[in-house]
Formats: sequence, C-alpha cells, structure tokens
Amino acid sequence: MHRPAFVIWFTGFSGAGKSTVAGELARELSRRGVDFEVLDGDEVREHLSKGLGFSREDRDTNIRRIGWVARTLAKHGCVAVCPVISPYRATRDEIRASCAFGGEPRFVEVHLRVPLDVCEARDVKGLYRKARAGEIRGFTGIDDPYEEPLRPEVVCETHRESVAESAARILARCEELGFLPPGPPAP
Ligand code: ADX
Repeated sequence: MHRPAFVIWFTGFSGAGKSTVAGELARELSRRGVDFEVLDGDEVREHLSKGLGFSREDRDTNIRRIGWVARTLAKHGCVAVCPVISPYRATRDEIRASCAFGGEPRFVEVHLRVPLDVCEARDVKGLYRKARAGEIRGFTGIDDPYEEPLRPEVVCETHRESVAESAARILARCEELGFLPPGPPAP
C-alpha cells in the first residue's frame, strides 16, 4: 500500500492559465519521477462529465466527480492535478474536506488570481467574445459567479510572473507542506 499522495486543485477564470501552469507542473513532477494524473476540466467534460452543462447544479456535479477521482488517485499514491474553474467556494471546500487521510488534509488549493479583463483580452478560445455577444449564457465572470478562495495555499498571478515561476512556487509550497521531498536541482 502506497503512502497517500495529495491533490493540487487549481481554481480561476477561463483563460487564467490553469491548464498551462498545470502542464508545466506535470513536466516537473515527471522529471522528479512522481506519479501524477491531470484531470483537466475541458477533457473531463468530454468523458466523465459528458452531457453536463454550466448551471450551478451541473458544475457542482462535475466538480464532485473530479474531486472523487482525485481523492481516489491520491489515496493510492498518485498526485492528482485538477485545473478546473470550480467557481463555488462551498463545493471546493467540500472536496478539500474529503481529501484528508487519517485526519491529515492533503489538498493544495491554487488560486490563479488574474483579473477578468486580462483573461478576456487573452480570449484563447474566443468564448469571452461569444459571451459578450450573448451567444453563450452563464459564462463565468461575465454573467455567472466566481467565488474567490479565502485561504488558498498558493496564489498565482500569471499576468505578473512566468508559467515556470508559478509552477516553481507551487512545488515549493508542496515541499513546505511536506507533501513532496525537496526536488533535484534544475538541469
Ligand atoms: S466548471 O465550472 O465546471 O469548473 P470546467 O473547468 O469544467 O468548469 O470547464 C470550463 C471550460 O468550459 C472553460 O475553460 C471553457 O472552455 C468552457 N465553457 C463553456 N461554457 C462555459 C461557461 N458558460 N462558463 C465557463 N466555461 C465555459
């Protein structure tokens, strides 16, 4: 039986850089020989959450499914990296509470704190434009809520630091929490 691993839960607007930073983090975990899995919102919605929409109920169902898989992976020694908007604080806190093993919480909440106008200017997928044009309803930040975390383990401002810097700070926090051993020197 493995020692339980932990969950790295990203939250923030679409376009804040969750998947990009998670990708960089994944490369570094891989370099360190750490077992991990990325449960990306966009990808999960193609499979595990196919058919779900963006009402509060559907988002919560999506988040609870991802949380359940993440917890199961962590329980078996695999670090679960979850880049998902997860706009509701209560639901994120519910997942945090479920990711405790032997009373020890093993959950690292990473808030990608990027102003909405920056995410909208990036508009990588062209969805903000559609939301502003009224072609998409209930878009997070435009006409749907986003509740910021109150005490996230890490805050990343991807408009002020590089992807590599964000990923390095997340890893440093995981080491500080005792979830990861100190990493090997960068190549
Ligand atoms: S969550 O709210 O349930 O956590 P999730 O992270 O899985 O969302 O999916 C978000 C992705 O779905 C966004 O990056 C975007 O590409 C797409 N999307 C489509 N419609 C919406 C919407 N109404 N609000 C937010 N994202 C949307």
